[in-house]
Amino acid sequence: MTDVVVPALYRQIYMRFRASIAEGLLKPGDRVPSIRALASELNLARGTIESAYQLLISEGYLLSRGAAGTIVSPAIKAVPMSSKSQPVSLPQYSLVHSGEPPQPFQMGLPALDAFPRKLWNRIASYELRHSFWDGAVYPDARGHSSLRRAVAGYLGVSRGISCTPEQIFIVAGYRAALDLISRTLLQPGDSCWVEDPGYFAAHDFLREAGATLVPVPVDSDGMVVEAGVEHVPDARFAVVTPTHQSPLCVALSMPRRQALLEWANHQQSWIIEDDYDSEYRYHGRPLPALKSLDTQDRVLYCGTFSKVLLPSLRLAYLVVPEKLVLRFTELADKMQSHCPQLWQVTTAKFIEQGHFGRHLKKMRNLYAHRRQLLVDALSAKLEHRLSVDHQVGGMHLLARLAKSEDDRGICIRAKRAGLRVEALSKWYLKERSEHGLLLGFTNVVDKEQASELVERLAQIIGSQPERRNDTVLYDACR
Ligand SMILES: Cc1ncc(COP(=O)(O)O)c(C=O)c1O
Repeated sequence: MTDVVVPALYRQIYMRFRASIAEGLLKPGDRVPSIRALASELNLARGTIESAYQLLISEGYLLSRGAAGTIVSPAIKAVPMSSKSQPVSLPQYSLVHSGEPPQPFQMGLPALDAFPRKLWNRIASYELRHSFWDGAVYPDARGHSSLRRAVAGYLGVSRGISCTPEQIFIVAGYRAALDLISRTLLQPGDSCWVEDPGYFAAHDFLREAGATLVPVPVDSDGMVVEAGVEHVPDARFAVVTPTHQSPLCVALSMPRRQALLEWANHQQSWIIEDDYDSEYRYHGRPLPALKSLDTQDRVLYCGTFSKVLLPSLRLAYLVVPEKLVLRFTELADKMQSHCPQLWQVTTAKFIEQGHFGRHLKKMRNLYAHRRQLLVDALSAKLEHRLSVDHQVGGMHLLARLAKSEDDRGICIRAKRAGLRVEALSKWYLKERSEHGLLLGFTNVVDKEQASELVERLAQIIGSQPERRNDTVLYDACR
């Protein structure tokens, strides 16, 4: 056995500072802690820290400025000490979201310029001064009671869903709702009907959670329930976006809604209703939620504040049938995956004080206008190449391309040119027969911007595709 030689304590401190400077964690000019503060923090004698600092000063790493404190020498250059401190080149992974500023045509983002910032800040600072401190303890894992009450009230009036606050769980986004559902109800290998085309993030999540996905086609009446019944009648779950199918934006027709509920009642299966942007319907009456027709309690209802307030809040909610409340409560309590309390109480107040209803009304009008701006610009410039679907709601347009057109190639070229267009064919699990472009319109602010963006898109569509066999880029076009 070889003896391990442990350097003297002062030398260990010296090495830590050298390593931090070499790795750029401490930069030239950065102030280092005083001898007294560091000695007390590390529970070491002051003399030990003093010896380390003296060595670092004598070698030019630190500079003492007397009463003004000690800093990293401004003249020092970061010199790697070992191979460990060399920059590591990590394998590339294309994140779905990376917190970057929004890009033109980006889907699923609310109008960031129209968010009532002042009002929100006023409510948030009031809450920070008051209720936030009343509840500065380990919070309720089901979500803040004020928000659960406010959501129950909103759903009753606006979505026709009758539920109690006890049935509501506040979660950090739709996938967190799926997480709670799958941990509570899903057995590995359970079959799960999913819409084809459908929301890829939900598909990826459910697959990860152990579900066997059963792609069910979608037509102009929404998910073709008969096809699901024919192929895998004993599926345990069906995941649907009945109000605005994602990404086709069609609504699930009443006969299909009834067929789906009948199937779930008969099979004792679960329907996961993803009602992510149902508030935005521009013609006709808003459709009631599927959950409002669910007399046998087979629907788990998911809503989110990402589209109606801001995605950065990471606030969503799940309504579970009464008979499942206990199981979901136990699981939520085990997981302890809380959402920020300040945003929960602020959102609750925003709803209670009537601002939410007014905000939704304003956004509905604004989006109807912005949508029209984009439709007009597309028909003026690209009518011969694209045909825009007449959807009644949603936050993006579907512009269909001829089958011979390569929507993915267009999206790759658009991405390089700074336009975040998505390819419809990428949203298919089974067949990629339909080609089209998915274009977010919520942040298109005026006619000039709409024309300028469509002009750029037209140039990309008209340009010759480059012959590049680059699958990474193909993945990145999502
Ligand atoms: C189909 C669909 N469902 C749900 C969501 C909401 O996800 P989250 O609550 O995580 O923001 C989105 C967001 O883009 C979506 O497109």
